[in-house]
Amino acid sequence: MKKITTKTIRQQKGQNKITMLTAYDYPMAKIVDTAGCDMILVGDSLGNVVLGYEDTTHVTMEDMLHHSRAVARGTEHALIVTDMPFLSYHTGKYEAVRNAGRLIAEGFANAVKLEGGSEIAETVKAITDAGIPVCGHLGLTPQSVNQLGGFSMQAKTEAAAEKLLADAKCLEDAGAFAVVLECIPRQLARHVTQSLTIPTIGIGAGKECDGQVLVLYDMLGLFSDYVPSFVKKYAELNTDVTSAVKTYIQEVKEEVFPI
Ligand code: KIV
Repeated sequence: MKKITTKTIRQQKGQNKITMLTAYDYPMAKIVDTAGCDMILVGDSLGNVVLGYEDTTHVTMEDMLHHSRAVARGTEHALIVTDMPFLSYHTGKYEAVRNAGRLIAEGFANAVKLEGGSEIAETVKAITDAGIPVCGHLGLTPQSVNQLGGFSMQAKTEAAAEKLLADAKCLEDAGAFAVVLECIPRQLARHVTQSLTIPTIGIGAGKECDGQVLVLYDMLGLFSDYVPSFVKKYAELNTDVTSAVKTYIQEVKEEVFPI
């Protein structure tokens, strides 16, 4: 199988649903890649599901670089998209391009993802002008949790829906190769998908998006603090791992292991 590029992803729009999952380390990246997922997102959700923070605002560039490198070592085919963390692209275009460039050069990412719409369009253009592919992220943008006041469904009013569509077009015009739509009404996600020439990747946004993304530890049933209602659990690893650890403890205590 050949390495997947942003060109491949764009060509899949309307032809073949795009699959994306998060990964944060070498073994999981290797599993996701070998299974044939199109894109691996080194999401800043690692702040919640790996580092144990309450939200993603505490994740640093060094965290993203560290995990992106590990994922890259386990990935042969999938396109690696690494999240730009909170405040790494808000303080000026120069800083944003530099940080995006670090995620490519030092983090071995193939593309970066930024949260926001028209307010970051110039930044997205500057990054794509530097030859770095950008994936947008609209709807529920977890880095703005303190402004949004929680993790609820977004763009529920007509005005908010119109703004989201305008934002999506801004990102497309700025050169983004795809856009993640998180937690927005299904009809709006369908409308945005039909209105753009670039693919939409949905999470809690219905089935009519061009592709889907989930947080790996949610869909594996590994992260148990909270699970968004739109997640489908394809495994119950928390239960399986707990049971394995308990059996190990018991067997060591009872001198069943080692033999
Ligand atoms: O950080 C992340 O995992 C994400 C997905 C929820 C899309 O941005």
